Amino acid sequence: MNKIYFDNNATTRVDDEAIKIMNEYFSSEYGNSSSAHGMGIEALETIDKCREKIAAYINCEPSEIIFTGSGTESDNMALLGYCHLKKPDECHIIVSEIEHSAILNTAKELQKEGYGVSFAKVNREGIIDLDYLESIINEKTKIISIMYANNETGAIQPIKEISEITRKRNIVFHTDAVQYIGKGYIDVKKTEIEMLSASGHKFHAPKGVGFLYLKKGIHIKPLIFGGSHERKIRPGTVNVPYIVSMTKALDVAYRDKEKNTKYIAGLRDTLKTGILDSIDNIVINTPNNSVYNTLNISIPGIEGEAMLFSLSEMGIYISTGSACSSGDSKPSHVMTAMGRSDLEAHGSLRLSLSKYNSQDEIDYVIKSLKEIVDRIRKISPYK
Ligand SMILES: Cc1ncc(COP(=O)(O)O)c(C=O)c1O
Repeated sequence: MNKIYFDNNATTRVDDEAIKIMNEYFSSEYGNSSSAHGMGIEALETIDKCREKIAAYINCEPSEIIFTGSGTESDNMALLGYCHLKKPDECHIIVSEIEHSAILNTAKELQKEGYGVSFAKVNREGIIDLDYLESIINEKTKIISIMYANNETGAIQPIKEISEITRKRNIVFHTDAVQYIGKGYIDVKKTEIEMLSASGHKFHAPKGVGFLYLKKGIHIKPLIFGGSHERKIRPGTVNVPYIVSMTKALDVAYRDKEKNTKYIAGLRDTLKTGILDSIDNIVINTPNNSVYNTLNISIPGIEGEAMLFSLSEMGIYISTGSACSSGDSKPSHVMTAMGRSDLEAHGSLRLSLSKYNSQDEIDYVIKSLKEIVDRIRKISPYK
């Protein structure tokens, strides 16, 4: 059975060029970047070149890039690291209701430690309500963390406007750009962002590598302690092959950006039109201003999980709200925050595409979705 992979916001196939270069660093250029000898020096030079390239993509200084093991780690470093240098009763933080669990659960941990935490609301489109955001800022607010693009709906957030609010009030702005980097251009100077998280496996690099942009002058407490790697902020022997591979994947993503954006957005739009034309009573949860690869729909009355398993049996791999996909049948917190009814939230599906998808796959998925929905609706009280 052919695999039709429409779950690229969960993870992506590693790009061939990124695999090729990674293998060279596994088998021949495998020095430890902390070693004093020639191979060590070469490894250090290699990661510094990667740092320069990545910094150029987001317009920061190379020294402001810290390599990490994942987006989750970058998010934790940003929030815990920043807050742990402040006393709980002097520090209030704001995150949005639609953040990934890497931010939401970290904020909840801080709340347990006594830090003040407030949650910014979104409108029905899943976009941050800026007036509400301003209304929950208080004199103790030290950091605001709002994602660049949402992993479930693809909604791009008003990052520039948020940064204007944080600038005005001298609040640090962290953004989780895990679903945006490689798909859109980022300029942390123009947009005035102090911290930004990224993860390689969302843009065709391997799993287990990411980075945190940390603006010069912003201090965070390390999560772990050890040697002097990554300016002592993230000690531990540096994973040179993965960093090289992540850098190559980002090079490829930005080199081919125009071509891929057009191609993938075209596929996504045909998918959307095809679903709307062939199935009644579909709710579109992805707003117009979204990352071009994501389509989130609700089929009210049909459990997302039932759809996911039926499609999986046909070799089609998609996702429901992130909570459901881990075997927990709570409705997606993103759908709930967007004011979706219980039926709509339980029936939400995320289809996320990549450059490896084709028009034939789109046609097959539309046909299969229709077949399953028709079958379930025949025996279901909801139409
Ligand atoms: C928005 C967002 N932030 C953070 C993460 C976590 O990244 P990682 O899987 O690299 O830990 C994800 C992964 O799904 C994500 O979508």
